[in-house]
Amino acid sequence: MNFNRTVLVTGGSGFIGSHLVCSLVASYPEWRIINLDILDYCCSPRSLEGVENRDNYTFIQGDVCNPQLVNQIFINENIDVIFHLAAKTHVESSFEYPSVFQRINVDGTRVLLDAAHRARHQPQRFVYVSTDEVYGTSLDEAFDEGSPLRPTNPYAATKAAAEYLVRSYWDKYQFPIIITRSNNIYGPRQFTEKVIPRFLTLLQRNNKCTIQGTLPMSRHFLFVSDAVQAFLLVLEKGTVGDVYNVGTSVEIPIVQLARELVRMVKNVTESEVNDWIEFVSSRPQVDLRYPIRSEKLQRLGWRAETSWAEGIRQTVKWYQDNPDFWLDVNKDRRIRKEPENASNT
Ligand SMILES: NC(=O)c1ccc[n+]([C@@H]2O[C@H](COP(=O)([O-])OP(=O)(O)OC[C@H]3O[C@@H](n4cnc5c(N)ncnc54)[C@H](O)[C@@H]3O)[C@@H](O)[C@H]2O)c1
Repeated sequence: MNFNRTVLVTGGSGFIGSHLVCSLVASYPEWRIINLDILDYCCSPRSLEGVENRDNYTFIQGDVCNPQLVNQIFINENIDVIFHLAAKTHVESSFEYPSVFQRINVDGTRVLLDAAHRARHQPQRFVYVSTDEVYGTSLDEAFDEGSPLRPTNPYAATKAAAEYLVRSYWDKYQFPIIITRSNNIYGPRQFTEKVIPRFLTLLQRNNKCTIQGTLPMSRHFLFVSDAVQAFLLVLEKGTVGDVYNVGTSVEIPIVQLARELVRMVKNVTESEVNDWIEFVSSRPQVDLRYPIRSEKLQRLGWRAETSWAEGIRQTVKWYQDNPDFWLDVNKDRRIRKEPENASNT
């Protein structure tokens, strides 16, 4: 079969990557989608079972930090577009294993950029999926794309460092990169270490939602299909060399999030809701909020289509319908993550 575009997605077996891959494979049968992923503990093969037999989908299990492998992919395939998502993503773990985060998030990006830039068949776009956490926290000011980067945890620092690498390829070689910085993305199939699935999994096991510290933390939440639409839009309409925030106005205090999920999952009376919430000690630096402005992306035509009510309804329903999804994976190849590991992000 002849395909008119070849798209490489790194980290395509992870939470956001699997939604992006499924959307690309289904919506663009004329494109070939290659997923390069190491299959870390946060992946389930079931996330991609809907596309694994499709003609326009290819999976390569491997490490984005491996230059031989990555160079070979660019020698064998005429890659037109790269969506780079492969990363270590759990903020809490980044305090414990900063060098692992540095290797995969920074070195991995360097290896991929270098191979893509040297490829005989020149890619049209390299989309780097970054995070609002690179700005650091803010109580009042909402960050736009020109705001300074002041990451406050090793995960965010490695994402910022990788961004600088990505931008240097634009500045030095005019290599056609685009960077996105999105809010907290949520939805079905997210691994249980992140805040929404962590609360849901704890409640499903009749445990309390654990919240780090008592400071008034909140997060802006973006439903995964809206994030995927943003990535596809910047691919088609974004300006090369530019950065695009991908944010929503859905700001939810973490305590309110826990209460909302308790009500949805436990069917308890209002006076019993707090019985399902427990405050635990906080990590060294917990960012209170990450407000960002997304007018630049909105000018390209993007709007978040999924309301919080609808997005969280779909998410809760998915975890209720699939209580064993992550248990099955964890039995086979657990490293050490359990939802009891408190993290608010
Ligand atoms: N989840 C969010 O709220 C959010 C928000 C903004 C940006 N992001 C970014 O989006 C990307 C995807 O996030 P996610 O939430 O889907 O994370 P995830 O942890 O679910 O997925 C990460 C994926 O990267 C893969 N991976 C890890 N190390 C690899 C390596 N050495 N080689 C190849 N693959 C490797 C993993 O196996 C996994 O499939 C990340 O770059 C993250 O920084 C996430």
